[in-house]
Amino acid sequence: MTQKARKILVTSALPYANGPIHIGHMVEYIQTDIWVRFQKMRGHQCLYVCADDAHGTPIMLRARKEGIEPEALIARVAEEHKADFADFNVGFDNYHSTHSDENRHYASLIYQRNKDQGNISNRTITQAYDPVEEMFLPDRFIKGECPKCGAQDQYGDNCEVCGASYSPNELKNPVSAVSGATPVDRDSEHYFFKLGNFETMLKEWTRGGHLQHEVANKLGEWFEAGLHEWDISRDAPYFGFEIPDHPGKFFYVWLDAPIGYMASFKNLCDKTPGLAFDDFWGKDASTELYHFIGKDIIYFHALFWPAMLHGADFRTPTAVFSHGFLTVDGQKMSKSRGTFIKARTYLDTLNPEYLRYYFAAKLGSGIEDIDLNLEDFLARVNSDLVGKVVNIASRCSGFIKKRFDGKLADQLDNQPLFDNFVSAGQQIAACYENREFSKAVREIMALADKANQYIDEKKPWVIAKEEGRAQELHAVCTMGLNLFRLLIGFLRPILPATAEKSEAFLQIQPLAWNDLQKPLLNHEIAAFKPLMTRIENSQIEAIVAASKEDLEKQEAISAKSQGALASDPISDIIEYPDFAKVDLRIVKIIKAQHVEGAEKLLQLTLDLDGETRNVFAGIKSAYTPEELEGKLTVMVANLAPRKMRFGVSEGMVLAAGPGGKELFILTPDSGAAPGMRVK
Ligand code: 2FM
Ligand code: ZN
Repeated sequence: MTQKARKILVTSALPYANGPIHIGHMVEYIQTDIWVRFQKMRGHQCLYVCADDAHGTPIMLRARKEGIEPEALIARVAEEHKADFADFNVGFDNYHSTHSDENRHYASLIYQRNKDQGNISNRTITQAYDPVEEMFLPDRFIKGECPKCGAQDQYGDNCEVCGASYSPNELKNPVSAVSGATPVDRDSEHYFFKLGNFETMLKEWTRGGHLQHEVANKLGEWFEAGLHEWDISRDAPYFGFEIPDHPGKFFYVWLDAPIGYMASFKNLCDKTPGLAFDDFWGKDASTELYHFIGKDIIYFHALFWPAMLHGADFRTPTAVFSHGFLTVDGQKMSKSRGTFIKARTYLDTLNPEYLRYYFAAKLGSGIEDIDLNLEDFLARVNSDLVGKVVNIASRCSGFIKKRFDGKLADQLDNQPLFDNFVSAGQQIAACYENREFSKAVREIMALADKANQYIDEKKPWVIAKEEGRAQELHAVCTMGLNLFRLLIGFLRPILPATAEKSEAFLQIQPLAWNDLQKPLLNHEIAAFKPLMTRIENSQIEAIVAASKEDLEKQEAISAKSQGALASDPISDIIEYPDFAKVDLRIVKIIKAQHVEGAEKLLQLTLDLDGETRNVFAGIKSAYTPEELEGKLTVMVANLAPRKMRFGVSEGMVLAAGPGGKELFILTPDSGAAPGMRVK
């Protein structure tokens, strides 16, 4: 292979800085990382940058809820995200933030250049406004009754019960999800990106081979529907960048999010001698630029983004690669089923390379969803990686160590078989290049079968026992280990850590694709250490159980954040009849006990003057059961029973404080007795 080294810049979508990474996200980062590692192995200059997507209303509100500044929230989440990615062996060349100087610079520049070109307009629009929080409400922060089916508590854009789509002003009895107040209409001036100015350019670009076919077809429908102006501004209060010369107006998060790709790259250039920003983003850049994204954000990346770039005199992407979503056991990831698995929850129990392998075995170049079937995951990893690949090394290495001082022979037992593997490498490389990873995996596993078949036929364990066959044994085991080396080389983009361990075992430099043509002969290897262990069923069960527990923690946190934190604003005014409905009673805690598998909960048996109630309370961090038994406290006695994972909770006890150890149950003054109504 004498291909000229390419210069390639690759990105994955920037994850929002208000929540943890989960295995659904990991599909994309693993897909991109495999592709990037493959390009690096081929000897190309391939740079992979990403960042946290740190702006927007949800992040602002989340920080407010936690009682911290948005900057503190995004700094904490960035550390968590970086640790999750690093532990999944995702090898970013740079990880930055959209809340950065570089991003402010490029967002302002792209806006200004587009404005100068006549691509920005402004006009006054009317929007829902929360008079209590004094903020405009994004659609998803307005709740009400579905205008079609009347279901309660539906979000401003669509109904989860009947599936209807509508605009927030069609909701009946709308309320702000932030304060509970009834929204009012309010006018404000907004700024728009005139996407229609780019119709000709975009039609050409979207049909110019920069998108997958099915994506290009979808865009055809969007062109037919017409290219509308895009609202790129938001009013204060907003966590983002103020628009130059327009105080109180901010860039909408989606304006500066993709610009974060540039910002992260610029940040990398500033710390890498010889790396020039314009080589990758300049109008005439001859380098390659690829964005890996989920199919839900195609509109932003295939229309707005190339148009914004073009309007600001920057280059457009070489290609945008979209992928589908992840399902687990055939269904959407679900918190209650324990299949909404956070990256960290997975990592606490299992080797990241198992999931990397499984996703690779499922990923193609299209936008179909992929399924993580937990049973199949276990079976496949155990049979392919442990049973077929790693096994080859363990079957051959012992003889080399014991009988030949750890040294490989100077020739192979079966050169044609080795050549056959090497030439299969071309097809495998083509699969990687075209993001047909499942095909690559199939090819590699077919080779692994051949390697095992070879060893089964040669039976080194039989040869080893026979006099005068040492040379043959040496050649056969050397052959086996050379086939293992090729398999590991082919799998390297998918299994970087296992490859590294294998390279240490073989005492070789990190494998490059070109190295694979030449066998490893006359070379000393190290003692074999197991490279991978089998997945046990109990480990999968533990992940699912822990994911249910995560849910429980989440519930406890949101219960906590609804509690009377000193910094919490007083909730909305309620009328007396509403208050009167709450039946507060004195109760005696006659029994308190731990709940197996629950990290936050205690199970309380409460005496309500003769009647007993079973209540699960999230107060385990603050009290031992012994401290509680015998105490009087206050409960909401007429709360509808709630079915929880551990049983039915028949009411709620009242507690105050921010949470953790600082949580205090309410206790009445002496003289109070079980059953008394609290007035
Ligand atoms: O959909 C999302 O999760 C966005 N945070 C992706 C942004 S990708 C890029 F445009 F920044
Ligand atoms: Zn409905």
